[in-house]
Amino acid sequence: MHLYGQLADMPAIMDIAKCHELLVLEDSAQAHGASLEGKRAGSWGDASGFSFYPGKNLGALGDAGAITTSDEALAHTLRALRNYGSHEKYKNLYQGINSRLDEIQAAMLSVKLKYLDKEIAHRRQVANAYLEGIKNKAIILPTQENDSAHVWHVFVIRCKHRDALQTYLAENGIQALIHYPIPPHQQPAYKEWNKLSYLISEKMHDEVLSLPIGPTMTMEDVTTIIQRCNDFWMYSE
Ligand SMILES: Cc1ncc(COP(=O)(O)O)c(C=O)c1O
Repeated sequence: MHLYGQLADMPAIMDIAKCHELLVLEDSAQAHGASLEGKRAGSWGDASGFSFYPGKNLGALGDAGAITTSDEALAHTLRALRNYGSHEKYKNLYQGINSRLDEIQAAMLSVKLKYLDKEIAHRRQVANAYLEGIKNKAIILPTQENDSAHVWHVFVIRCKHRDALQTYLAENGIQALIHYPIPPHQQPAYKEWNKLSYLISEKMHDEVLSLPIGPTMTMEDVTTIIQRCNDFWMYSE
């Protein structure tokens, strides 16, 4: 999974997969357009899922998604699976589902795709301003592998006093959300894992906070957010 918009360490993952004859499935839902060593998210593994949920970097007007693969046979099977398991009308080769990309959404997405690189460039400008401008020692900034590996779907900082910082920002008119507040092993859906403790994961979930980032943000707003982050003195070390 290319979390938050940054490519995972794909060269290492591909080496391990090759060594053990594993298939690699990428989750590129947050990483449209990100690339590492000149290769884009969605082109490293055997197949990759993309989400076009409206809030994503490339978002439709409703739910939508796509799979990429260079495997012709897999593509052929997937085309049938999304269409009741059928390549040919009224003939069902597989027990499929109805998961076709709605044509209105596809039309919207092909228009929005043209603006993706420009929007990513703006996200990078916002992220770089945060990275250079936020100097508060209580805030741990994210790191990036290189400038093209990250498309900044979200800009996630860490702070030991996360809840106080979130409240302080909200009082100053800045909405900062938490991605994500509950680790998977503590979700009711995974009852069998609930009693286990993963300390690093739990610490991260207690400390992460996402600063606003997006293609329509003005640099004036970004400057204000940087100032507010630097003014957060209550628990600064
Ligand atoms: C990393 C990741 N994977 C998968 C999904 C699921 O995407 P969708 O809601 O389009 O199925 C999301 C959406 O939030 C996501 O962020």
